[in-house]
Order: sequence, then C-alpha cells, then structure tokens
Amino acid sequence: MSQHLFLPLVIFVISPIPEAFQDSDCGRPEPSARIMGGSDAQPGAWPWQVSLHQGGGHICGGSLIAPSWVLSAAHCFVSNGTLEQASEWSVLLGVHSQDGPLDGAHVRSVAAILVPDNYSKVELGADLALLRLTSPAKLSPTVRPICLPRASHRFAHGTACWATGWGDLQEDDPLPLPWVLQEVELRLLGEAACQCLYSRPGPFNLTFQLLPGMLCAGYPEGRRDTCQGDSGGPLVCKEGGRWFQAGITSFGFGCGRRNRPGVFTAVGPYETWIREQVMGLEPGPAFPSQPQESQTGTWESREENCTIALPECGKAPRPGVWPWEAQVIMPGSRPCHGTLVSESWVLAPASCFLDSITSDNPPRDLDAWRVLLPSRTRSERVSRFVPHENATWDDASDLALLQLRAPVNLSAAPRAVCLPYPEHYFLPGSRCRLALWGRGEHALGPSAQLEAELLGGWWCHCLYGHQGASVPPPGHPPHRLCPYYQEEEEAGRCWNDSRWSLMCLEEGTWFLAGIGDFSSGCLRPRAFSPVQTHSPWISHVTRGAYLEDQLAWDWGSEGEETETQTCPPHTEHGACGLRPEAAQKGTLWPWLAEVHVAGDRVCTGILVAPGWVLVATHCVLRLGSTTVPNIEVYLGRAGASPLPQGHQVSRLVISIRLPRHLGLGPPLALLELSSRVEPSPSALPICLHPGGVPPGASCWVLGWKDPQDRVPVATIVSILTPRLCHCLYQGILPPGTLCVLYAEGQEDRCEVTSAPPLLCQTEGGSWVLMGMAVRGSQELFAAIGPEEAWISQTVAEAHFLPPSGSPYWPPAGSDLCPPDMAGASGSPQAAALILLLLTPLIQD
Ligand code: ARG
Repeated sequence: MSQHLFLPLVIFVISPIPEAFQDSDCGRPEPSARIMGGSDAQPGAWPWQVSLHQGGGHICGGSLIAPSWVLSAAHCFVSNGTLEQASEWSVLLGVHSQDGPLDGAHVRSVAAILVPDNYSKVELGADLALLRLTSPAKLSPTVRPICLPRASHRFAHGTACWATGWGDLQEDDPLPLPWVLQEVELRLLGEAACQCLYSRPGPFNLTFQLLPGMLCAGYPEGRRDTCQGDSGGPLVCKEGGRWFQAGITSFGFGCGRRNRPGVFTAVGPYETWIREQVMGLEPGPAFPSQPQESQTGTWESREENCTIALPECGKAPRPGVWPWEAQVIMPGSRPCHGTLVSESWVLAPASCFLDSITSDNPPRDLDAWRVLLPSRTRSERVSRFVPHENATWDDASDLALLQLRAPVNLSAAPRAVCLPYPEHYFLPGSRCRLALWGRGEHALGPSAQLEAELLGGWWCHCLYGHQGASVPPPGHPPHRLCPYYQEEEEAGRCWNDSRWSLMCLEEGTWFLAGIGDFSSGCLRPRAFSPVQTHSPWISHVTRGAYLEDQLAWDWGSEGEETETQTCPPHTEHGACGLRPEAAQKGTLWPWLAEVHVAGDRVCTGILVAPGWVLVATHCVLRLGSTTVPNIEVYLGRAGASPLPQGHQVSRLVISIRLPRHLGLGPPLALLELSSRVEPSPSALPICLHPGGVPPGASCWVLGWKDPQDRVPVATIVSILTPRLCHCLYQGILPPGTLCVLYAEGQEDRCEVTSAPPLLCQTEGGSWVLMGMAVRGSQELFAAIGPEEAWISQTVAEAHFLPPSGSPYWPPAGSDLCPPDMAGASGSPQAAALILLLLTPLIQD
C-alpha cells in the first residue's frame, strides 16, 4: 500500500466529515500489519474491525462500513427470538489489544440495531445486523471503513481471504491476555464444495444444508477457522488494491474440524437491504464496483470437485506398528513410552519424569533428554515439559506434554495419533490394542501388545464402580474404559509392573482412547482412564494436536437408551453376577463353567468366587466310588459363539468340599481351583442369595442340550411356592428343595445329567444362583440359601447379597395340599428320585 493514499485520510480526519462518503475511502488499511490456527494481527492492519461489548465484555465482532454504521451478525443481538436493547451495547473502534490502555481506540454507543425481518436462527440464514452509532466514528489510520460488494459482485472460489476477531483460539479455549486481535487466512469454498463437505456425517453426526445468502470459507482439513466470539466479524478479500467484505462470521460446527468449514453470511446478496436501512443517513457505506481484473475468477465453474479430507492422524501400516510411538530417553533411567500427538508434542505419563510423585519441581536436565521417533535417524531434543496440573495426585491425570525443540515432518512415520473429543463414544465391540505406556524396556515388538475389544460402558462402569452408581450414557465422557483381552497371567506376573495405553480403531483410524494405571492389579479387564477428558488440555497446550471426530456412528441399541442405568448391588468382595451385554461375543454367562470329571463326564459348574466353583455333588462324585476323580474346570467357553482359545481359562481342581449333613447325601459340592481366576468378562463370579426368591426376579435354568457342543441355553421358569412344591411332591422332599415350573414344551431344553443351575436376575440387574439340579431331575433344585453358612465358611469371598424377600421356608405340612393336587406327580420316577436323594454318598 502506498503512502500518498495515507495523506488525504489524515486531512479527512481533521476536516469535518464530507457530505458524501467516497467509494475510494473504503477498504484501504494503513500499510504495515483467531480465530483458530491464526496469529496476532499487526496494529492497524484491519482498521474496520470493531469489538461489540455488552456488560463490559467483548461478545461479538463487527465491521465499520460507514462513519455511523457497523455491520455484524443478527444472532449476536437476538436471544429467544427478541432483539436486545441497543443501549446495552457499545462499539469499540480502533482496538488492537483489548487489555490495558486502548490507545487510539474510542467507544461509541449504539442508537439502533436493525435485523432483517426474516432472521430467525443462524442455520436459516439472514444472519446480519446493522448498528447505527449514536455519533459518527472518528476516522483515523486505525479506524476506517471496509468496502461492501454489490449484489453482482462475485468472489472467485479458492480466493484467499482473511477473517479477524477476538474469538476463541480453539473450541472452549478463549484468547488469552493481552487479547490481541487475531487474523487467519481462509479460502472461499464454492457452494457445491461446501455442501459436499457438509453432506458427510461429522461432528455430532450432523449434516447441514447450505442456503442462499450463505458462504463457506476454510479448508477441508480444518484446523484454521473462526470460532466462538468471532461472530459478526468480517471476512475480507483483497481486489484491485482494496478490501471488500465478502462475509460475516456466522456459525460452524465446532471450530476447525475436518470437513466442517466456517459458515458466513454472504454480504453481496444483502446490498439492497443494507442500502434501504442506511438510507437518509449520509454518508452511507461504499459499494465500489468490482475491479475489472477480479471478474475473471472461477466463480462460475459449477464443476467444483468435491474433496473430502481424510484424517491426518492415526493411520498405522498395520496394527501394532505405531508411527506415533515415542520413547523418551533420560540419562540413568529406563526409557518412557509415550505417543506423538502433533508435529511438536509428545504425550507421556508425568510419573516417568517426576522423580518423586510429591515433587512437582520441573525437571532440571531437560537438555539431556532425547526422544526417539519411528523412521527418524536422529533423536529429537526437548525444549519444554508441561505436566498436567493434577498429575501428582490423580492417576487419571498422570500426563505430561513434551515439546520437541524442532517440529518433525509428519508423514507415514512419524505420524500423530488421533485424540478423541470429550463427547466421543467408543462403541462397545470396537477393536482396540493395548500398547506399552510409561517406563519400560527398549525392545518393543508386537509381543508387547495385546489385542482387545472394547466392552460396554455399563459392564465396565459397574465392575469397577460401586453399586447404585449411575452409568454415563453414550456421548457423555465415560469414567473408565474396559477392553476385553486375553488372560495375561501366563508367566504368573499379571503384568503388574507394566502400564498400557489403549488404542482403539474406528474406520481404519487409531485413537488414543485411554491410559492405564497400576492400581487395578490383576483385575481384568483393566480399567483405563479415558483420554477424551484431557483432550481440551492437550489441544490448549499444543495448539495443534490432532483431535478427530468420532468416525463410527452406529450406536445401535445402546445409543437409543435414554434412561440412566445404575449399577446392581455389589458385595464387600466387589461386583458379582454382572452379565455382559449381548453385543460382546461369547461372554454371555461369565460364571458358567464346564466341569470335566475324569476326562469323560461334563457337568455344569458355577463360579462363586475367584478360586471356587459350585457343582451338584452327584456330578463329581459317583456312588460307591472311593477315589476322588481328576477334575478340570473351564471358564470362558460357554457362549453363543465360543471365545478364541486365549480367552478361555482352565484350572485343575485341588479339593472337593462337602457340607457335613447328618444322614443326608449333601447335594452341593465346592471345588477349589488350583489358582484364582481373576474377574474378567469370561470369568466373573455370580452372586448368591441367602434365601427366598429375590422380589421381582426372573428365573432361568441354564444348561446345554448337547453334551458334545455345550452351547448354553437358558429356559425361563417360575419357582413354585414352598407349599405348592411340597404338595406336588407329597412332602417327601428334603428341606430346601426348590421346584420350578416350565412353560409348556420347554421342559427338556437342557440335558439333565449335567446338573444345570437355577439362576435369577434380580430387579437391580445382578444374577443370583438359586440352586443346582438334583440328580436326574428337571424340576427340582438343591437350594443355595440353606447352605449359606457352609459356603461362606469355606469360601471367604463368596458373594452373598443381603437377604431380601421372604425368609427361607420350613417344610410345610402336607395337610394343606389341595386334594386334587396331592399325588399329581407321585410318579414312580419321582419316588426313585427321592430314594436316590436319600442315599448317602461317599464322604471324604
Ligand atoms: N457463532 C459463533 C459466535 O457467536 C461463531 C462461530 C464460528 N464458528 C466456526 N466454526 N467458524 O462467535
């Protein structure tokens, strides 16, 4: 910009405002001079930029279009359908930094706010407003109007234009002091290109229809955009040496997100409306005709190509080969495994670097640290260390960011991992991987990783959470994430000394979903702290980390669940009887065990504690036999589709415990396993009930039809009242026998010789073991309740729930039986059965 243009304007300032405001006076800033992804503007570079204040603070931007007129966005002034009072607003002109003395700046109050009649809400367009100032602005080198385009003006697609404002630097990340005006270069997107981007489901799974009078500017890949607080501000393009205002910042979806460019109100189409409003108050805005040379742009080409941007982060050549894997090397200690989150920043656990967890002094030897990245021949140096403010006391915030001295080029490798936005919902069943995190060995390979599958939020939350806790619904940040993976106890070390990060895959893109800690011990699945809650902090510090939208949106039935779920009762030993959602393959009955006796017989067993399985005695001990058979227990086998071998758990039985009943063959036996089976989706103990049927429960007999295939089938039954039971069987039952009634045709759904269990699901949602089938019977079950004392003495960790419902019943007199019922089932089989029951079994 040349000097001679400057002089007339100085004269102009000290002279009274001329009668007619000249076209040539607009859009020419002094020679010199977020907005997201932008930078500080030079003072005076955008002299038409104004700040609109309400209640003493900046609310919106605007542009000076004539000495007494400011152009802005309607939505800044309309709340709940009503236009706010002009007197509440003031206009700051000639401001650069909004902190401290506003030298050269001056303030005007607003006489009137004018909004098009057809404005209702931003998505429906007409989002513009005119503010009439109570007195004209003092024009100066830092206060000058912008030129407005005529309705016939065409801005070419792809033109580089500039947006300016004091808005947020990123979503929920306000511009810090000293609040210096930000500028960002944005490219005009044609209507077709913009509509094409918005037609792809993206943030919040929303698509949107671009309307006439709207304009898009930005980039398919995002990262540079206007943001909250920039609204009303101008989008200006330079043509023929002067600046024209092409758009007014109106709205967007998030800020700087991929395929979601900012939406602006196009100014040209409102030429007539603007002229009508300002009529009579001279001088009005300038609408210079479009310079000749700019009329040859590509604006007419309807053949714009539709370029969808793909994620720039999280692409791995194959699972387990992580291009974002970063190792921080410090003299004298084991390397620390972290992950590359941008071209300049590595995320790692803060505990790797803070010598003692109580000292939060910044590390002194930063100079000696090195970062190893994939495909880089030399190590990187570190210039800054930023621990999370809660890192020293909160495991879930054990994070630190390390800035590399020089940014690395992101390509196939190294590449940054994607970070989830706070509202991300990783679908149950997502494919994930556990990767080393924190202090570890140098040598890394796929062996240091575990394949995993994400479990449903309810199951994870309730396994770790406490009873009655409400489970965060999909779309709310979860408290923890649980991946389901292979038993890691092989070497008996339970990986106690290593930490893991959790990477999850969506549409071929890997996200850092969670970070693990040490505290969960051997409990499986390990709980991971969600990273999504930290993403705002990470992007605030790094200003360039790759936050990526959710890429898989098929929430299925879980997404529709609106009522809050709460966790079923726990016992003092933790969670029991939590049945995973059907979505998780092969894990439907985590307490159901196959008990293989001496290699040939297979019975049903139920896991009642980490090292104990309950069975029907007749299954494991044969009449007359004096040897204790060789028994093996398999867990994680039973399921609709069998689990991969690695998810199965097998244990040898080292002892059989029987209650000591005088004169009666004890119907139940406890099997002690050779080692504990840590709780996991394939092996979780069931709850036990001291007596009575839990009120409101629904009850099932669980077994398999085919002794070879052993696919579990559950048949719903009703448990008869003790009186009815007693009558049916003519009082010949041992105390505490439960009788059930099947729906017609459902009687022989499972094989009797395996001694199927009788389970109930309580109103609270937990599954409770009620009994085990007595020998040869479909309908009679030996109840657990009466054996409470024996079971809890033998198995300290048995999960007895607090008693509920009616107390356990005493044998009732047969005289109470309705006459037509007595003897109804007094069949020879029943008699034989009773005899068997009464025959003492061998005792140890
Ligand atoms: N409506 C916002 C405001 O009031 C402007 C948002 C612009 N967002 C965007 N992604 N371009 O300040």
